[in-house]
Amino acid sequence: MLRRLYHDQPESFAFTPANLEWAQAQLTKYPEGREASAVIPLLWRAQEQEGWLSKPAIEHVADMLGMAHIRALEVATFYFMFQLRPVGSVAHFQICGTLSCMIMGAEDLIAVAKEKIAPEPHMLSQDGRFSWEEVECLGACTNAPMIQAGKDFYEDLTADAFGEILGEFAAGAVPVPGPQNGRYAAEPLGGLTSLPDFESGRTAHNASVALAVGLGDTIKRIDGSEVPVTTPWVAGGRSVHVSGRKGAPKPKAETKPKPKAETKPKPKAEAPPAPKASQQPAKPAQPEAVPENVGAPVAKPAALDAPRGGGADDLKAIKGVGPKLEALLHSLGFFHFDQIAAWTGAEVGWVDENLQGFKGRVSRDNWVEQAKLLAAGGETEFSKKVNKGDVY
Ligand code: FES
Repeated sequence: MLRRLYHDQPESFAFTPANLEWAQAQLTKYPEGREASAVIPLLWRAQEQEGWLSKPAIEHVADMLGMAHIRALEVATFYFMFQLRPVGSVAHFQICGTLSCMIMGAEDLIAVAKEKIAPEPHMLSQDGRFSWEEVECLGACTNAPMIQAGKDFYEDLTADAFGEILGEFAAGAVPVPGPQNGRYAAEPLGGLTSLPDFESGRTAHNASVALAVGLGDTIKRIDGSEVPVTTPWVAGGRSVHVSGRKGAPKPKAETKPKPKAETKPKPKAEAPPAPKASQQPAKPAQPEAVPENVGAPVAKPAALDAPRGGGADDLKAIKGVGPKLEALLHSLGFFHFDQIAAWTGAEVGWVDENLQGFKGRVSRDNWVEQAKLLAAGGETEFSKKVNKGDVY
C-alpha cells in the first residue's frame, strides 16, 4: 500500500506538557548522539495524543531528536502502526485479516465495517466518529476472529457481535473487551478438559480483560497524565511526571524560570555557592544525561543584543551544538565562546531549561568546559574535526 501524508494537515503540533516531559525523559535512555533511537516511541506518543500522525507532529519529533525531517518521515511512512490520516474520533477498528481470523469469519466482520462505518478502510464514518482497517495477525489467533479497538482486543466475534459492539461504542459506552462468545480465555469451546476445578476459582474476567476493565482506557487518548513515568536509569530514579496526582510535581513545561532571570540580570551575584562544581560535571559516577540542575536555582546569563565586532564564534565547534542549537543560542543572546565559558552552574541551569527541544544539552555535553578551551584559543577533539570539515 502506498502510504502518503494526508492532504489536509494542521498548522502545528505540540506535545501536552506531561507528554513533553515524558518524551524528554525518553531521550535520556540513549547515549549521546543516539537520541534518534527514540524516534518510534516519540512518534507513537504523538499518535496516542492526537489519534494520528500529522506532518507537523512528525517534524516536531524530528526536531526534538536533531534528525532531518526526512528521516522521521521515513519511519512514519514505513510502519503500518502509524496512522497517516485522521481516524475516527471515538474508535478506529483494526480487523485481523490473517489466516485463523479469515477461516473463522473475518470477512464477515469486514462486511459489517463496510456497511456500518465506511465502504473503504481508512475512511471516516459520516459522523467522523469511526474508521476501520484490515491488519495482519494481532496474535490472538486462538480467539479468532478478532479486532482491536483502541488499546484492547475483542475476540471470538461474529458479525452480530461486532455490530453490537459498534452500537455500544456509538452510544458512548465501552464494551467489555475479551472473548465475546462466553469463553473465559482461550480454553476449548466445550469447556475445560483438564484441571476442571480451575473454573470454580475464576475471577470475573481473565487477567487481560480485568486489566483493561480496571484501567478503563480502551479508547482514551493519552495526554500524559495516566501513569507515573519514572526514569530509573537516571541517578536515584526520579519521577518524571505524575501529572494529575496529588502532590505531583508540576511538569517542567509549566515552570517559569525566565522572570527570575529577567528581574535579576546579574547572574554572578545570584549564583549559588560553589557553582563551579556543577560547571564541571566530570565526576565519573554522574550520568551525563541527567540535568543536574533539576530543582536547583537558575539564573539567566548575561546576553548580548548582537555579536561583538569580529562577528560570532562558530558555536558549532562545541560538541552537541548543531545549526539549530546555534541559531537558538543566538536568539538567546549568546554568540561567543567566552560567554559560554563564563556560565555558572545556575546559569547552565537556566540555559538547559530554555533550550526548547534540547533541554539539558549544556550539562550533558559539558559546553562550559569545551567553551573554556575554545575561548582560550585551544581545540577539542571535536572542534578539530569541525575545522577539518569532517563534521557536517
Ligand atoms: S490470525 Fe487473527 S489474530 Fe492471528
